[in-house]
Amino acid sequence: MTEQPPNKNAAWSGRFSEPISELVKRYTGSIGFDQRLALYDIQGSLAHAEMLAHVGLISSTDLASIERGMARIRADIEAGQMRWSLDLEDVHMNIEKRLTDLIGDAGKRLHTGRSRNDQVATDIRLWLRDAIDEIDAALTALQAALLDVALLHTDTILPGFTHLQVAQPVTYGHHLLAYVEMFSRDAARLADCRARANLLPLGAAALAGTTFAIDSERVARRLGFDGVCRNSLDAVSDRDFAVEFCAACALIMTHVSRFSEEIVLWMSPQFGFIDLADRFCTGSSIMPQKKNPDVAELARGKSGRVFGHLMALLTLLKGQPLAYNKDNQEDKEPLFDSADTVLATLRIFAEMVPGIVVRPGNMRAAAQRGFATATDLADYLVRRGLPFRDAHEVVAQAVRQCVERGIELEGLSLPELQALSGAIEADVFAVLSLEGSVAARRHIGATAPERVRAEIAWHRERLAAASTSRASS
Ligand code: ARG
Repeated sequence: MTEQPPNKNAAWSGRFSEPISELVKRYTGSIGFDQRLALYDIQGSLAHAEMLAHVGLISSTDLASIERGMARIRADIEAGQMRWSLDLEDVHMNIEKRLTDLIGDAGKRLHTGRSRNDQVATDIRLWLRDAIDEIDAALTALQAALLDVALLHTDTILPGFTHLQVAQPVTYGHHLLAYVEMFSRDAARLADCRARANLLPLGAAALAGTTFAIDSERVARRLGFDGVCRNSLDAVSDRDFAVEFCAACALIMTHVSRFSEEIVLWMSPQFGFIDLADRFCTGSSIMPQKKNPDVAELARGKSGRVFGHLMALLTLLKGQPLAYNKDNQEDKEPLFDSADTVLATLRIFAEMVPGIVVRPGNMRAAAQRGFATATDLADYLVRRGLPFRDAHEVVAQAVRQCVERGIELEGLSLPELQALSGAIEADVFAVLSLEGSVAARRHIGATAPERVRAEIAWHRERLAAASTSRASS
């Protein structure tokens, strides 16, 4: 075997007698995807260097050189001129090598008291905070769009479904508010995840902490973290926040996917409840009549990859002994793709929601078929003194007669209704109407137009308060 020269680029070249195999280099390198963390890596390094200088571990001249070098690297990255090299494996070593090329020994002192293990954990948390803030803004925009459309349709009636069978009439505004509730919980989940992720792991070094008298709290303050991770082994190996984030993303996609399913169904000629603005649809290359809700279908489909990322991260973690293992390098692509997918999806939905054209006539016609006010008739009988179970039975008889004769409940005459129950009087027809049915459901959480208007106002105040508190924090 011929002796190969050590690979002088690698940070650990002193320990090795031959260069890394090409295949291994490509297999283990992460620069292809972790360069996305570059600006966070620089931000973390600058805070670390400032602390090193503050506690006297590097000179103020070194700090000035590091700041100058990093400013240059940042400018190169922003201009798309940074040359990333697979020989340097990952974003951390690419930046450190470039820094050292630019400023010499001061660049080599930057890694004092830290490791790539705590460095990468810091970078991801910094990235995640911004990703969450962007998704939160998109969730707010989507909720605002849903509220605007809901306000236009507080009185628009469609059938509410259970088991996809006509159940009771509801208002379209009320239906849309159900999604506002879901997306508001999603925002709360992300805020919760952000709060737990917002602690500084830097200072854990490789796994056991460092022999230098560092000031992690200073670094934490500078980077806007709420505090410092309190166990070094956990700090470098914890990716719970990544799982939590992907779980929150998975639920967001679940909600978007349910909404998408309704868009697809409702746009079909069989339902005909809605139409979508042409700019959100695509045609068919063979069937000239087609106008397809591709965005909704794709969003429904993309939920699958986000669920997959959640599974990938759980699986990634479950077999790892403490502390850091290279397995963790696999956390980034699921995280990035989850954030990208969710953000793109929410943004397009916020634009598409106002472009949904409602067909109130078709909605109403569907609500009129299928005895949607049968429960209202039973409730009417309860108010007239019948126990609910007996009232239920009377209405069941009425429905059965209607089915046999192919008519709706309003099609029964007063004498026919009275033959079923003596408690029925002429005012019964008001409760059999769709408007009467929805208007009667006035309590918190119900579908009456006046209640929906109140809920919209409540949600708008909630969103405004959240944006004020964001602006002041
Ligand atoms: N690229 C690595 C990652 O993403 C950085 C940390 C590497 N640490 C190590 N000991 N190999 O996790």
